[in-house]
Amino acid sequence: METAVSEFNDVGDILVLPLFEGVVKAPNNTLAGLSRTQRSLVNEALASDSFTGKAGKHLDVWTAGCQVVLVGMGENPSDKSCRDGGAKTLAALSKDHGTNVTVRFTTGWSTSKMALFVEGMILRDYSFDKYQHKEDGEIQSDWNLTCQASPRHQPKLSAAVSKSTAIATGVHVARELGNEPANVMYPDEYARRAMEWAKGKSNVEVEVWDYDRLKKEGMHGVIAVGKGSERKPCMVYFRLNPNVQKGDQVPCIVGKGITFDTGGISIKPSAGMEDMKFDMHGSATVFGLFVALQASGYQGRVNGITCMAENMPSAGAYRPGDIIDTYSGKTIEVLNTDAEGRNVLSDGLWKASELDPSYIIDLATLTGACVVALGHEASGLWSNDDALSARIHAAGNAEDEIAWPMPLLPAFEKEMTGSKVADVQNLGKGRWGGACTAAGFLKQFVQDRDGAQIPWAHLDIAGTAWGASTNAMVANGATGIHVRTLHRLITE
Ligand code: BES
Ligand code: MN
Ligand code: ZN
Repeated sequence: METAVSEFNDVGDILVLPLFEGVVKAPNNTLAGLSRTQRSLVNEALASDSFTGKAGKHLDVWTAGCQVVLVGMGENPSDKSCRDGGAKTLAALSKDHGTNVTVRFTTGWSTSKMALFVEGMILRDYSFDKYQHKEDGEIQSDWNLTCQASPRHQPKLSAAVSKSTAIATGVHVARELGNEPANVMYPDEYARRAMEWAKGKSNVEVEVWDYDRLKKEGMHGVIAVGKGSERKPCMVYFRLNPNVQKGDQVPCIVGKGITFDTGGISIKPSAGMEDMKFDMHGSATVFGLFVALQASGYQGRVNGITCMAENMPSAGAYRPGDIIDTYSGKTIEVLNTDAEGRNVLSDGLWKASELDPSYIIDLATLTGACVVALGHEASGLWSNDDALSARIHAAGNAEDEIAWPMPLLPAFEKEMTGSKVADVQNLGKGRWGGACTAAGFLKQFVQDRDGAQIPWAHLDIAGTAWGASTNAMVANGATGIHVRTLHRLITE
């Protein structure tokens, strides 16, 4: 989507007028650039009972040469309503009317609410249809969006639109990676795309540890999970602005990247298994976050680590009962090969700790139990640091990507460290509290520093990485969840 910010002038092919409840007459400037006939059509529509400005209602007014869309915003819309309003408005537009869209903000709009409406439009402008053959004459051109507001709003609105565009680029990269099927998106392909993105960017480094390197380094958590696949595992390191803040503690973000999760030898039932192509969304979010940070010009240093593997059953696969000698030096008793995310993250978290980070955040589509607990409305948030947890929660709220605090109780840790043959086991005693025991497991792989554990938070995105019908930014498929949350957390 191309965007511009301007004065109230040309209307384009489609004119979007977001209006507040109770408007019966067009506010100043609303109808600038329309002919007398067009004005009277819009005025009649506004005066009629067909449009009241109620939230969620919209009315299309046909005029010669321009489709006018009246969008009801209610009386005093929340930030979420503004962002959702923009997203839903874009979703309802048809390119048959042309692709030059003008959105006009008049009386009652603050700059920040305008920016949110536009952000919703930008975020919603993504579809995953590249594997679908197009019909003859189908319109392929991108939207061209002009945001019109009075001069006093324009500088701030311009800056906000640029920032949203940069961040949305990252969200859309994350969504694209998540949506790619597993025959296309396997560990090496993810690594290849990361390298390709880094190429020519002087403030970005991407390093890939291939299978041989993983063996050399002793990354047996990642190896165990990935060795059953023809597509061998790898780890990808992201470094933004690696040459600044040397010696300072900076954030490290870790992602689970299971490009397909069959369950392995503890194989999953076939119904719904296709969704397990999304099991690399933690790593998709990490990649998307780095794209967003770089595109928005963030000047600080940040590290990322993704643990990439395909969990397959085969003659070479790891088995229940196996004991993994992880990078940390701690051993894991495998009780279920389908609890594989935690195995790969054990290496990622230990490695992250070695980077002396200010904090570590991991993202993982880790447990079905988290979806049982929170549905598709919130990610589960576990942390050993209340201040970090509060900051993530607040950033999530601001972006409408809810991260809900969950308990990291000692009893859950105990359940995972009770193995008779290894240091930790990858399954709890029963199925109760499965998302919490998983978090208790991960905590074993965060290192101490100066007598206390490094601040760490775990986001279980199993319910939010795809499948939320209430997410107005997303028609279907991968959501790009928490790219925006983490961008806000890191840059503010
Ligand atoms: N990737 C799954 C978790 C998952 C399931 C995410 C459904 C989204 C939707 C994970 O690797 C897994 O299989 N977890 C098991 C853990 C169990 C064996 C302890 C689960 O949740 O059943
Ligand atoms: Mn699994
Ligand atoms: Zn998984």
